[in-house]
Amino acid sequence: MEVCEVCQNIIAIRMAMLSKGISCYVKSVPPCEGAKKMDCACKLEGDEKVIEINGNYFEIVRDDKYAGKRLNNKIAIVTGGAQGFGKGIVDEIIAEGALVCIADFNDALAIKVAGELEEQFGKGRVFAVKADVSNEESVQNMVKATVAAFGGVDILVNNAGIARAGSLEEMDEKTFTMVTNVNYKAYFLCTKYVSMVMKMQFACNNNYYADIVQISSKSGLEGSNKNFAYAGSKFGGIGLTQSFAKELCPFKIKVNSICPGNYLDGPLWSDPEKGLFKQYFEAGKVPGAKSVEDVRKHYMSLVPMNRGCFPKDVAKAIMYCVEQEYETGQAIPVTGGQVMLN
Ligand SMILES: NC(=O)c1ccc[n+]([C@@H]2O[C@H](COP(=O)([O-])OP(=O)(O)OC[C@H]3O[C@@H](n4cnc5c(N)ncnc54)[C@H](O)[C@@H]3O)[C@@H](O)[C@H]2O)c1
Repeated sequence: MEVCEVCQNIIAIRMAMLSKGISCYVKSVPPCEGAKKMDCACKLEGDEKVIEINGNYFEIVRDDKYAGKRLNNKIAIVTGGAQGFGKGIVDEIIAEGALVCIADFNDALAIKVAGELEEQFGKGRVFAVKADVSNEESVQNMVKATVAAFGGVDILVNNAGIARAGSLEEMDEKTFTMVTNVNYKAYFLCTKYVSMVMKMQFACNNNYYADIVQISSKSGLEGSNKNFAYAGSKFGGIGLTQSFAKELCPFKIKVNSICPGNYLDGPLWSDPEKGLFKQYFEAGKVPGAKSVEDVRKHYMSLVPMNRGCFPKDVAKAIMYCVEQEYETGQAIPVTGGQVMLN
């Protein structure tokens, strides 16, 4: 991916403002009157609103509504942010002051979610982009759109994922490859292109940290019966996390995985028509269960803390990763005690 001159300028402007202690985001705008002309972002004094560099115009937006919040004006991409864990993570981090790109295959839903959040948190603080994270060109577009909208990328939440269960007899190559592409290959693609921007930010300011957070699963720490395509992709993702962490450490880019337990109240499990509780009840998977509610109780009983994982639990772990400057390459369980590390 070529990082064009406009994007390079936008990144340099934001980093120059941040190094002056000015929290802001920067966006590319059409030509307009009253812009301050300069040849380099390093000449910014800090009071500029709109500037022109080489015929390109940039607006510097100082939005201090979220000053003091944990992620004040940090720029985040959340893949698969239109529903489920991803949507819940977007809700939590935007309330903590993050600027968010919701990157999802389901663009209609992503646009709807972004519109609702704009009403709640302010225009310009969130936008949606259609992305297939398993497609290289689509990932490049997602990263470029985020830089053009906000001026950089500080946090990638690599959340988009799919689950296709099946035994060795049932699983076919096409399904196995699809799961691997979305859960494993896509993590490489997103990290490849997001880290390019993060390295440019680091080149502007050697004290600036950025974070890549992969949403793995408890099935990334412990095998999953008749669900190996999913578990293997999540285990593999943790291998990528450890390797990326070592490679990106010199650029102050931290890379961690979060391994949530089951989101039992989310659509995957609780949907009254298609949810796993209903499916497992009908399939008789839980011996002695007389209702869907009995199946739910069984899965809750597997969790020492006796409840499913919520997006807010995962969001807390993401914020820990961002705030903790002295840790990288970890896989953090958020399972209510269901999976414990050795
Ligand atoms: N739900 C759980 O119990 C659970 C438990 C542990 C880990 N996880 C992990 O959390 C993440 C989110 O899971 P969820 O249950 O919220 O899923 P979900 O199916 O509810 O939502 C996934 C989102 O990702 C999007 N998506 C799917 N493929 C995509 C692609 N190729 N490109 C872009 N977007 C794509 C979907 O459109 C959807 O909006 C996944 O990585 C999953 O493995 C889920």
